[in-house]
Amino acid sequence: MALPQNGYGLWLDYKKVSDASLLGDYQNQIQSVYFPGESSTLDVARAELKLGLNALLGTTMEFSSSASNNTQLIVAKFEQLDQKLQKNLKKVKIPEDGYYIGHVAGNTVITAKEDVGLLYGVFNFLRMLQTQQPIAKLDHLDGPKIDLRILNHWDNLDGTVERGYAGKSLWKWQKLPKYIDQRYIDYARANASVGINGTVLTNVNANAWLLTPSYIDKVAALADTFRPYGIKVYLTARFSAPMEIGHLSTADPLDPQVQQWWKDKIDNIYKKIPDFGGFLVKANSEGQPGPQNYGRSHVDGANMMADALAPHNGVVLWRAFVYSEHDATDRAKQAYLEFVPMDGKFKDNVIVQVKNGAIDFQPREPFHPIFGAMPKTALAMEFQITQEYLGFSTHLVFLPKLYEEVLKSDTYQQGKGSLVAKVIDGSLDNHKISAISGVSNIGSDLNWTGHPFAQANWYGYGRLAWDPYLDSETIADQWLRSTYSNDENFVKPMTELLIESREAVVNYMTPLGLHHLMDTNHHYGPGPWVSELARPEWNPTYYHKADAEGIGFDRTQTGSDAIMQYAEPVAQRFEQLEQCPENLLLWFHHLPWDYTLSDGHTLWDSLGLQYQKGVDQVRAMQKTWEQMSPYVDALSHKEVRMLLDIQLEEAIWWKDACMLYFHEYSKLPFPKGMETPKHSLDYYKSLKHPYAPGI
Ligand code: GCU
Repeated sequence: MALPQNGYGLWLDYKKVSDASLLGDYQNQIQSVYFPGESSTLDVARAELKLGLNALLGTTMEFSSSASNNTQLIVAKFEQLDQKLQKNLKKVKIPEDGYYIGHVAGNTVITAKEDVGLLYGVFNFLRMLQTQQPIAKLDHLDGPKIDLRILNHWDNLDGTVERGYAGKSLWKWQKLPKYIDQRYIDYARANASVGINGTVLTNVNANAWLLTPSYIDKVAALADTFRPYGIKVYLTARFSAPMEIGHLSTADPLDPQVQQWWKDKIDNIYKKIPDFGGFLVKANSEGQPGPQNYGRSHVDGANMMADALAPHNGVVLWRAFVYSEHDATDRAKQAYLEFVPMDGKFKDNVIVQVKNGAIDFQPREPFHPIFGAMPKTALAMEFQITQEYLGFSTHLVFLPKLYEEVLKSDTYQQGKGSLVAKVIDGSLDNHKISAISGVSNIGSDLNWTGHPFAQANWYGYGRLAWDPYLDSETIADQWLRSTYSNDENFVKPMTELLIESREAVVNYMTPLGLHHLMDTNHHYGPGPWVSELARPEWNPTYYHKADAEGIGFDRTQTGSDAIMQYAEPVAQRFEQLEQCPENLLLWFHHLPWDYTLSDGHTLWDSLGLQYQKGVDQVRAMQKTWEQMSPYVDALSHKEVRMLLDIQLEEAIWWKDACMLYFHEYSKLPFPKGMETPKHSLDYYKSLKHPYAPGI
């Protein structure tokens, strides 16, 4: 009996090409493979190609020891191609770490400058076959647009994962360095298949123990495992480590002993891990130690580490996620106010890592105003792949749609066309180095991500890290085809479902620009009433400001003036009510309950109808999914169906709890078309989730 599909194979479970005529074409065009060259990366690429071709074409592919004149797949570095092929490809400018795939002189050729380029070329060629693209006239040049394409694991040394909803950490620290779990290899392979080339193994809320020699040996074993796949390892550095594990009396970045401590530490790391990527640092943020503890600045702290890393070509990813409990300024303004004046002061190997929006990974946020506002500093994007505020691994939400919205936002910082994507890939301000990070949603669950469809978010993040200009429909299409089926009756409705799923979650959680309405600590479920937490900006009431008059956060000139951190004409667009996008209305404006929206509804009615729409969108997702059983295995179908049932229940929970609570202020009847809440407000307030995962 065949085992049911359990999702472990991700998008790389190569299935035989279902289109008979295409299969015939592929078989004719690839009758054998010539793939010369020896290296650990090339060995991985060759093994992948063999696995993929055999499964996709249903043959045992011949790997020959010489090149022939036609119907062969030739995979070789440019310098290894014969003169005729080199001549044919003379004009092709292959990007660093990129590849070329083309139909050349009767053969299909995958070529690159670097070994890792060939690995990426192989994965992309296999994707073409998986997604059933014709290959007869191939002429495809591709390369990564961002240099460092990194996953951030928020994994703790005790095996828990902060904001992790897919089981425990993958890293078995106690068994390392000697025991290499097969999963590490499968993880690296999956990352390489989408072009991810770096991994931060540990939580930004860092533990200094990680930097002790025995842990560095463990990290080195992981680095050795990932290296053939083109993946570098990075670590989170706790700023107070010189005191905690180095027994110094200070961690002041200007203290020569502290500087020497970091230098020695870093030199030692590079002895064990010659291609170590560098440090990711959360400093003076949410209680973490940092240079400000010693009256120094973020620049002092980051540059001190950067100096020690520079001789080894390492980088510092210094996070801009800062806001202070002692500062009454609108939280949305604080990171900009603190970091923008430091533009130009960071060393070349410092990259300031900025979350996509100014608050915290909400279902929808306008792009962070820092993007484009620090032209002399390399800025990395930080997206969250794990769904801390979007239903954990229970709700189906396709995040590439959210990422795309941010990347394609125009900052106008250098005039029209100054897209966030151009800030990140370094092209807007001509940076030598560029980076993107995604907070991982991967854990020890059999299917890696908890929800089978959360795999699409790992995949999609990787694809956008490679090319931040890709559109989310293409990513959805490719992932669906690679993971499940190429049948148009599946791909078309399911692409629509994935694309719509992002707007659905916005509608049933935080419509019209509302944000940060979730319950305390675990961040699951609604808690718009929460108002008594120690720090004002941790309370949902701080953000929605509902009162008898209306609702929303006034960030205009008469309010917190956060809007003025954006360049013109973006600022005016957000400031002027008539121009402000309605999906961000309450992010920027406090409006009366009877304010009229463009469709003629009052704000109150519209709020209720948006919540209802979110619920209805989940119902529509359920309906579509019911029709998909012919195209997916029974186990996946059942799993997703059960999860969608929960998602519907919880969408209703969000609608009911939020609308009942806001009703306390508006005192208006629920709009016609909004289903009546199932329980009382007190009931929703009484719900507690003390053991929710991820805390
Ligand atoms: C959020 C999240 C924390 C995390 C923090 C960060 O606030 O809830 O768990 O540590 O972001 O990004 O540093």
